[in-house]
Amino acid sequence: MNSLIIKNATISTPTGNSARKGAEMAALKTIPNGAIVVDNGIITYVGPQDSMPQISDSERYNVIDAGGRAVLPGFVDSHTHLIFGGYRPDEFEWRLKGDSYMSIMERGGGIQSTVNATRTEDVNSLVDKAQWFINRMSAMGITTVEAKSGYGLDTATELKMLEAIDRLATTPGQKLRIISTFLGAHAVPKEYKGRTGEYVDMMIKEMLPAVKGKAKFCDIFTEKNVFEIEDSRRFLKAAREAGFQLKLHADEIVTLGGAELAAELGAVSADHLLHVSDKGVADMAKAGVVATLLPLTAFTLKEPYAPARKFIDNGAAVALATDLNPGSCFSGSIPLTIALACIYMGMSIEETITALTLNGAAALDIAQSTGSLEPGKEADIIILNYENYRMLPYYVGMNCVSTVISRGTVVAQND
Ligand code: NIG
Ligand code: FE
Repeated sequence: MNSLIIKNATISTPTGNSARKGAEMAALKTIPNGAIVVDNGIITYVGPQDSMPQISDSERYNVIDAGGRAVLPGFVDSHTHLIFGGYRPDEFEWRLKGDSYMSIMERGGGIQSTVNATRTEDVNSLVDKAQWFINRMSAMGITTVEAKSGYGLDTATELKMLEAIDRLATTPGQKLRIISTFLGAHAVPKEYKGRTGEYVDMMIKEMLPAVKGKAKFCDIFTEKNVFEIEDSRRFLKAAREAGFQLKLHADEIVTLGGAELAAELGAVSADHLLHVSDKGVADMAKAGVVATLLPLTAFTLKEPYAPARKFIDNGAAVALATDLNPGSCFSGSIPLTIALACIYMGMSIEETITALTLNGAAALDIAQSTGSLEPGKEADIIILNYENYRMLPYYVGMNCVSTVISRGTVVAQND
């Protein structure tokens, strides 16, 4: 049943069909004693319960009494590496002893180690493993997740990863919406070591045509000693011509100009940005590129947090996401993301809610259809255990979401 009525709701939501920028991020619309009506998965009414339309065929509706508790849009996790072979707990321990993320990568571990495991893992096992994470992330209120390829780095395995994503996205009754991203430019594979330009040529000639139509976005790890600015520009331009919308892993480890490149090319988002320059911030704000910040990665790698305040105070749109992946950030925890954003990045609770809902949707170019509680949007809704959404960051790393509704259907009930 995907028609429902939520009564006695304390509703809070950002509003609009595009990213909220700068000071707009803190503006949530709140409706006390509210109600929401959903018909066939689409919101048809959000407003005071007193003014709710008369419903004659009420037996068609699943009626939920929120008991005055906080009702928000479902969370949008717009950056994950959900599909991967193997695990890398050994690297985690090496880093605890002082090794760095990039030095492990440079000696053939890191992303390449997951590539080796993903190439040999069968698609069913990749799907089952990802579903395990999806079930847990759904219970934390995630109603949309982005999933990247990028652990194949050869055409066959990149296609296998995108097939796994497609299978998950089209599983009947899937708990959340899945948006796919092609990340063949995640690293230079060992077969092309020292021949980055040739790998870029191969991706343009062989991979982009092969994955066309199987992913909405094309992403790249623009980083010193990985894909530097010239190679990134060349690849992203070809991807744009092939019909992909663009994303970048930008300025994660060093300041390289990834943010400026994202603005120049009109990318939908640039992500990470721990070491973004002031010009990068200004360029992204001007070009309307969403700054997707990933505090769980900074936390895991013991790196400085991305300058969220700088982005917001310069009028940019900030989204938050988990970056779940087996290397730099083995966590899909929305509660911890919220707590870190408030405690260490200076974001207000309202800004984090906008960043994880409407702005996350904008980072996936789906803000017209989800990310806020408004008539015409798909019914992705969460109910908290408390009347006040201020409990979200206060509950450090613990889940206080009670009910999760995805496209009009209750998919998680945490009691
Ligand atoms: O977003 N930095 C590049 N990519 C991932 C990490 C991938 C991995 O280590 O497996 C990230 O941090
Ligand atoms: Fe990432």
